Amino acid sequence: MPAALKGRARRLTRADADTFNPALPQGLGERVVQWQAAHGRHGLPWQGTRDPYRVWLSEIMLQQTQVATVLGYYGRFLERFPDVRALAAAPLNDVLALWSGLGYYSRARHLHRCAQQVVAVHAGQFPTDSAALATLPGIGRSTAAAIAAFCFGERVAILDGNVKRVLTRTLGFGGDLADAAQERALWDRAQALLPAQGIESYTQGLMDLGAQVCTLRRPACLMCPLAPDCVARAQGKPESYPVKTRRLKRGRREHALLWLVQDGRVWLHQRPPRGVWAGLWSLPDWPDLAALRALVGTWPGAGRELAAVEHALTHFDWTLRPLHWELPPALPPSEQAALDAQLPAGGRWHTRAQALAAGLPAPVRKLLLAQSLRT
Ligand code: ADE
Repeated sequence: MPAALKGRARRLTRADADTFNPALPQGLGERVVQWQAAHGRHGLPWQGTRDPYRVWLSEIMLQQTQVATVLGYYGRFLERFPDVRALAAAPLNDVLALWSGLGYYSRARHLHRCAQQVVAVHAGQFPTDSAALATLPGIGRSTAAAIAAFCFGERVAILDGNVKRVLTRTLGFGGDLADAAQERALWDRAQALLPAQGIESYTQGLMDLGAQVCTLRRPACLMCPLAPDCVARAQGKPESYPVKTRRLKRGRREHALLWLVQDGRVWLHQRPPRGVWAGLWSLPDWPDLAALRALVGTWPGAGRELAAVEHALTHFDWTLRPLHWELPPALPPSEQAALDAQLPAGGRWHTRAQALAAGLPAPVRKLLLAQSLRT
């Protein structure tokens, strides 16, 4: 049993956590560095560069998104925006279009604002230390530390969700991370664990352990270089860390979606700058199908309801009920104008090519791809 655990095999309480300050395991950082060299991930497109633009882009894309998904976006994004000036000069809509499908679109809006700030305030050069990086839009403390470690070799701790899991389990840190003081205490321990050398490999190693070994469920402790020291493992309950009491209460929402087509074109509107799918182009939604049916029932043409689409967002599960309505190809101008006036503001007709080039939410893109519009 590790020294840290002697006499404390029961579940940690809040009072324990407040006073819990065991000696940190020795040589842990060095072991992570060695493990990363032998078993960690190598050859990812954002590794092997110290260009802060490339590393920053990868770190933002990798927030809440798996490596396999990011691989499909990273190269395309760099082709279109090869440097921070190209990104800063682009219209936000182009950035959102390339981000389409990666989710968490506030990341794309922050990314764009950050690029503009780097150009306007820092003459196109990213700051070279974590404290200054963390002042930029969309760059939190952990992301700033990752960029500074990878690009500038700064000896500074990261603490994203995966790394919190690795460290709370290894240390048996039972403090409630919903409590800011406990989270600060974990940051302090993370900083104290840093190895003297090899911050890049250590940082990557912790990320790799969190993603591939110390997983949320059924961690592969037999593969883990930290297993000999791991308090959670010795307690036989690795999955009970980290402790975070304030869980998100997920809600449910339901809306009807109007999929309006005419002469091979589809009507899309740009969503408001705040809220779900902010700034993306989407099929307009109605509070319920009955209200939407009542509206389209007054229009020429024909339509039908399609199978509901289930979409999970961070705070709620969303059921979208599409109603497909096809207008006759040509209407008298006054009738067309009267009809267009009943559609939400901020919209217009798109050909298939225009629609697919726009920043679309993933479920809307999927829906549109299933039908042939005129190019
Ligand atoms: N998650 C966050 N940053 C990462 C990185 N640099 N490599 C792999 N996964 C990550």
